[in-house]
Amino acid sequence: MASLHIDHLLGLQNVPKEDITLILDSTDTFLEILDRPIKKVPTLQGKTVVNLFFENSTRTRISFELAERRLSADVVNFAAGSSSVKKGETLLDTARNIEAMKVDIVVMRHSAAGAGHFLSKRCTSRFINAGDGAHEHPTQALLDMCTLRQKHGSLDGLNVCIIGDIAHSRVARSNIYGLLTMGADVAVCGPPSMMPYDLEKLGVRIFHDVDEALQFSDAVNVLRIQLERDAGADFPTLREYNQTFGITRDRLDRLGREVTVLHPGPINRGVEIESEVADGPYSVILPQVTNGVAIRMAVLYLIGTKAE
Ligand code: NCD
Repeated sequence: MASLHIDHLLGLQNVPKEDITLILDSTDTFLEILDRPIKKVPTLQGKTVVNLFFENSTRTRISFELAERRLSADVVNFAAGSSSVKKGETLLDTARNIEAMKVDIVVMRHSAAGAGHFLSKRCTSRFINAGDGAHEHPTQALLDMCTLRQKHGSLDGLNVCIIGDIAHSRVARSNIYGLLTMGADVAVCGPPSMMPYDLEKLGVRIFHDVDEALQFSDAVNVLRIQLERDAGADFPTLREYNQTFGITRDRLDRLGREVTVLHPGPINRGVEIESEVADGPYSVILPQVTNGVAIRMAVLYLIGTKAE
């Protein structure tokens, strides 16, 4: 049986191609399970998973919990708002206490970049990063890659452009690392004020004109403006952003060919994407959500059953 090189899934930077391929290939088995009338297998029976969510989430938290329950794991949920974090406990103390309760896998979302790296070095549980600040969101990038593989067959040589608020986006960073490893041609597009400085060094193309970006692309991954991370200060108004960078039906019609449209959600309709595009024939936004559960089942299975 093939097994992962990594012990934790903290990000996709430096994760080898064989590991990404193994996760994507295993996902097909779990997608098949999700189509059965009884969507449950005993794979993680007897294992305990805690979902440590220090930051708000709907889709990702529910998706992880469904994946865990469908693998028959015992699941404990922790939301920072109702925990001792509010009483001044440190992140490390919270985690150590949880671990003293013999937890096997910790799924964590946190506003601080590197929170998972920090804890994985100090605790014995396996860690899965469900988003750390503006750093990485590896399971989102894996589900995006899974959806692209379904639609286009292979990621090798595929032209993918990530459009929007690149600087604040953990989704962008994980997608860039993962897609480059898998041999895709990766570009980004957005206002200069939303581009991180070191981007060209990673080997991605940069567009500032969205129509040029669309010409390059087989697929576009459209990002939300991260207003909660102060992104609103980087351009004059949401209306202007929509006119300059919004993915509209008009723009796609002018292109005159199909381009696959992904979005990690939550969508701001009428800002970065028009409703007609989000709900239109090229959109794979809902398949992404379905694939997300299967990807997380694959990651939990491969990380949770890997020998010490
Ligand atoms: C993303 C996130 O939280 O980083 N969403 C998600 O995981 N469903 C993207 C976003 O918030 O825009």
